Amino acid sequence: MTRDKQPIYPIDLWDVTETAFLLENNYRNETTFSLSNGYIGTRGTFEEAYPFDEDHGLEGNFVNGFYESVPIRYGEANFGSPPRSQTLLNLPNLKETKLFLDGEEFSMDAGSMKGYSRTLHMHDGLLERKLVWTSPGGKKAAINIRRLASFAEKHIMAIRYEVEPLNFSGTVRFQSALRADVENHTRKTNPIVDYGPFGRRLDPVKLTAADGTLYYEGVTKGSGLTVACGSTHRIASGQPIINRTYHAGALDGRFSLTVKAVQGQSVVLEKMICYATSLDMDLGELEAFTKKTLEAAVKTGYDRLEEAQKGYFRAFWQTADIEIESGEGLAIRQGLHFNLFHIFQSAGRDNQTGMGAKGLSGEGYEGHYFWDTEMYVLPVLIFTAPEAARALLRWRWSKLPQARERARILGHDKGALFPWRTINGQEASTYYPLGTAQYHINADVAYALSLYLQATGDTQFLTECGVEMFIETARVWADVGSFSDRRGGKYCICCVTGPDEYNVLVDNNFYTNLMARENLRHAAGAVRWLRENAPAAMDTLAARLDFHQEELALWDKIADNMYLPYDEGSQIYPMDDGFMIRKPWDESRIPPEKRAWLYENYHPLFIMRHRMSKQADAILGMYLHSNYFSQEELRRNYDFYQTVTLHHSSLSTCIFGIVAAGIGYMDQAYAYFSDSARMDLDDYHNNFYAGIHAANMAGTWQAVLNGFAGMRLQRSKLSFAPRLPEQWESYRFQILFRGARLCVTVGREGAEFVLLEGGPVRFDLFGHEVTLERAGGRYFEKI
Ligand code: BGC
Repeated sequence: MTRDKQPIYPIDLWDVTETAFLLENNYRNETTFSLSNGYIGTRGTFEEAYPFDEDHGLEGNFVNGFYESVPIRYGEANFGSPPRSQTLLNLPNLKETKLFLDGEEFSMDAGSMKGYSRTLHMHDGLLERKLVWTSPGGKKAAINIRRLASFAEKHIMAIRYEVEPLNFSGTVRFQSALRADVENHTRKTNPIVDYGPFGRRLDPVKLTAADGTLYYEGVTKGSGLTVACGSTHRIASGQPIINRTYHAGALDGRFSLTVKAVQGQSVVLEKMICYATSLDMDLGELEAFTKKTLEAAVKTGYDRLEEAQKGYFRAFWQTADIEIESGEGLAIRQGLHFNLFHIFQSAGRDNQTGMGAKGLSGEGYEGHYFWDTEMYVLPVLIFTAPEAARALLRWRWSKLPQARERARILGHDKGALFPWRTINGQEASTYYPLGTAQYHINADVAYALSLYLQATGDTQFLTECGVEMFIETARVWADVGSFSDRRGGKYCICCVTGPDEYNVLVDNNFYTNLMARENLRHAAGAVRWLRENAPAAMDTLAARLDFHQEELALWDKIADNMYLPYDEGSQIYPMDDGFMIRKPWDESRIPPEKRAWLYENYHPLFIMRHRMSKQADAILGMYLHSNYFSQEELRRNYDFYQTVTLHHSSLSTCIFGIVAAGIGYMDQAYAYFSDSARMDLDDYHNNFYAGIHAANMAGTWQAVLNGFAGMRLQRSKLSFAPRLPEQWESYRFQILFRGARLCVTVGREGAEFVLLEGGPVRFDLFGHEVTLERAGGRYFEKI
């Protein structure tokens, strides 16, 4: 489980630094150094815009929710196959900024370079590059470039480019460009999951270069969406511009500005970049909005944007940081910081966008949103940045109309079925056994919603959106299965795929049935709550949704009679009805180089008829609803699933680690946790170039809080059962809970709970209740 892979970057608490530029690392590092603010996403490519080939780099600039769509050509389409694709579109690049010292172009390939470093400052939300360059002609300059995707202004990305001539006085010229001849690439590297459109998909509508500003507007060929983007420039160090030139071509624009520089005096270019799209506003407003936003950003200036950025991240880290004291704590913490940094920056925050499985860091998985958001990322944001969690849930709610349409296509007269993969709310999965069949997405959304409501007490959201989401998801569960007399009259759900993608179209997937049952219970509870607390709102909703009281009775009946597969012989919960009779998996038949790549090397039928599992499935359900299972049951099931799970998905090890901790298998818990903590930072899966693994990143936070600290929030009851891994001296974290801020420290002596803000907070600790009345309240217990 634990890797012996050496750290790729120097170990440091808050920084990830590359100290030498090596072409072979470039593609991966572009993801490492990618920046986002939940709206704009930009890969960590260089201002010099090196023309790397497609095996070594991918310029990438994205706007959350902005996609291209083409008709999908199926060999054998079935009814209901999504007719059109959705792909997060790679947008025009505006980062390009070339530098000329007395006419000599700066390039890391030419002349000589000293003191190179490129650092992701995770604490501050910034990327910085520093170096001293000597041109082939002997001109020496210190270069410092800072970049941020602004949290203060979601449409803005800012670059501060500082050049200090060290041994000469002369001209410094910046040539800033806009490149609109862009296309998506990743389909070439992962054809199994990516199908992206080929060629340039944006048709230019307008491209101008004037008054210190580059501006572009383009419309996609397929989805008909328009993107506007531009950049504007200012010499912040005060030197007068002695020459300006502009160029506006069909697909590229350039603005070049020259200043006279004096040895020892820095020249600072501030470049503001703006993206806006027709998803945000009317077409006619885009140009004026972009230019106005750029102007305002220039006025604000880079330094103030950077200050605001630091403030934003400071607030996040205050809650989200996990402090660990241990010999290897620094490496683990760096991994956790990296993970939390990326998920925090990637989450859509404007109620109109979700969060991709790869965030906005690359083209992998077409930029699609999956259940990864609800089941892995949201549980972190709910306790650390609840407003970001709310925005993601609100986005899901806004896609109910598309989910209703999808449910009709799947034959359900009522309710909504959320898509397995999507950007615009419609299903984008082309292979239904691994896609639409994952009905559990509905219950996952309901689970995250319920967790959010329990943690925040946000009854306004429940009233405005939540009850509707619960009702519509529950209705599909009430329709998809039936009470079977072959299963003692229990409610059975056939032909679905659970989380595990090596066992598909199965009957009675344990995870699905369990989660569906909870979905129905939460829905019934929410309807009753609304009826009691806002009867008029319930009446209006019932009329709008054509909701009847009898539905409630049916949900109760189904929930009380949900079938969960159980194997008497081994006394475990099999993943589904057929799991125990499938052929045992014989790994020795699989050559080592093919083992992690089954779908790439074997026919699905070969994979699916074996008794093994790609990722946490039943065990995930048992973790989320551990209150229904005894320790003994959890242990038996964990022991079993340990032997059949291959962990071929990055969503797996973190969950096994959590369950292991809960049953006291601390060594295994720690090994799984270690495997997750630096998975992306050290690129264990060798595919980080295509983008982050957001789910695992979030899973590592869960591994500490839900795993080691045993935190659960079930039936509105917060509880802890803290344990300390023997590798650690102590760990400390904070959570936001119903407006209060709770700090938990677990050390060798015991566990300490301090209420920092708000209160009262009640929680169970090893089964007994603790109350902290007000801020300053403290409770300590030996463990
Ligand atoms: C996993 C899914 C996951 C998807 C996106 C797949 O490999 O099996 O559970 O949603 O990746 O991360």
